[in-house]
Amino acid sequence: MATRYEETFKGKRVLITGGLGFIGSNLAIKLVELGAVVTLVDNMIPRQGGNLFNISPITDKVHVNFSDVRNQLSMNYLVQGQDYIFHLAGQVNHVESVRNPIQDLDINCRGTLVLLEACRKYNKDVKLIFSGTRGEYGTSVHLPVNEDHPTNPKGIYAVTNLTAEKMILVYHDIHKIQGICLRITNTYGERHQMQHDEFGVLNWFIRKAMDDETIPVFGDGRILRDFLYVGDLVDCFLMVATCPQAYGEVFNVGTGIPISFIDLAKKIVQIAGSGRVDFTDFTPERKEVEPGDYYTDISKIKRVVGWEPKTSLEEGIRRTIEFYRKYRDKYWGDAFK
Ligand SMILES: NC(=O)c1ccc[n+]([C@@H]2O[C@H](COP(=O)([O-])OP(=O)(O)OC[C@H]3O[C@@H](n4cnc5c(N)ncnc54)[C@H](O)[C@@H]3O)[C@@H](O)[C@H]2O)c1
Repeated sequence: MATRYEETFKGKRVLITGGLGFIGSNLAIKLVELGAVVTLVDNMIPRQGGNLFNISPITDKVHVNFSDVRNQLSMNYLVQGQDYIFHLAGQVNHVESVRNPIQDLDINCRGTLVLLEACRKYNKDVKLIFSGTRGEYGTSVHLPVNEDHPTNPKGIYAVTNLTAEKMILVYHDIHKIQGICLRITNTYGERHQMQHDEFGVLNWFIRKAMDDETIPVFGDGRILRDFLYVGDLVDCFLMVATCPQAYGEVFNVGTGIPISFIDLAKKIVQIAGSGRVDFTDFTPERKEVEPGDYYTDISKIKRVVGWEPKTSLEEGIRRTIEFYRKYRDKYWGDAFK
């Protein structure tokens, strides 16, 4: 079935910040397929998701700029002539955020402001899409969580995402830089880092199962979450970007379907055909930032944009396992460094 954006990106110039990471690289592959002229900017920060293998299907079809979104000279240059910017560069490691919160402030807030200033000075007509997090809500006071839910972030990672979102909305209103802010639920799938468990819980569970090890589920495993397949998120980015009514708005992005961590872990073991599940205590730094149950009310994005996810959790897990069975050596250990 043809999508709304099938023809829109042909020949369009697109900049993806954080483009060598998990979401950015999946988005880049789809945009190249649609005929866009794609530039990726990434600083390959250690222990995050940047991996050159992520773009192996399109290496000779994209421009890669190893730079930092905090670098004003680079960003002033890179934003010029772009039709769309997908701003995905961020400090995303929740554990690192507790260890080194100043870095979150620097990358997520200052980096976003540098990008916005570059747009204001050198490309006021660009369309900007920002990947914020469901963490901006903090502990849910009602479920499912809609966009009017209070924002009481539990950690500095989420505080700095909320601040970046507000900056984008301010530039939209005052400087007329068209922006859209997404609050995205936990996302999983192909091209996520598999090195450590400091972020990306579902992908980590998959690694444990594939290694025939025990999946450690924190607490009693009954906390509810909403897990989105990356292919559906890519579709969402392209749908919002091509929806004029979406600019100036904040949207929740998720499935709206909750699952407990224990049921998730059991499902992964069953689909992988290996591994086992056991309970473990929360580490103190995990406990501090754990917001509890979350699942998304996606009625706004359905109504305004016409987007909704299409991939079942079972199908998404199956595809993810298949990908890592094929390319395991590119993601396990230190192979890609
Ligand atoms: N994966 C999720 O579940 C999820 C959920 C909600 C929001 N998000 C947001 O989506 C964005 C992308 O996340 P991801 O899951 O792809 O993570 P990722 O770590 O795989 O990708 C992020 C990329 O940004 C790069 N980067 C970090 N700081 C940079 C800087 N200062 N300059 C240039 N590049 C920089 C990293 O090297 C990495 O390649 C992040 O902003 C994250 O907060 C992700």
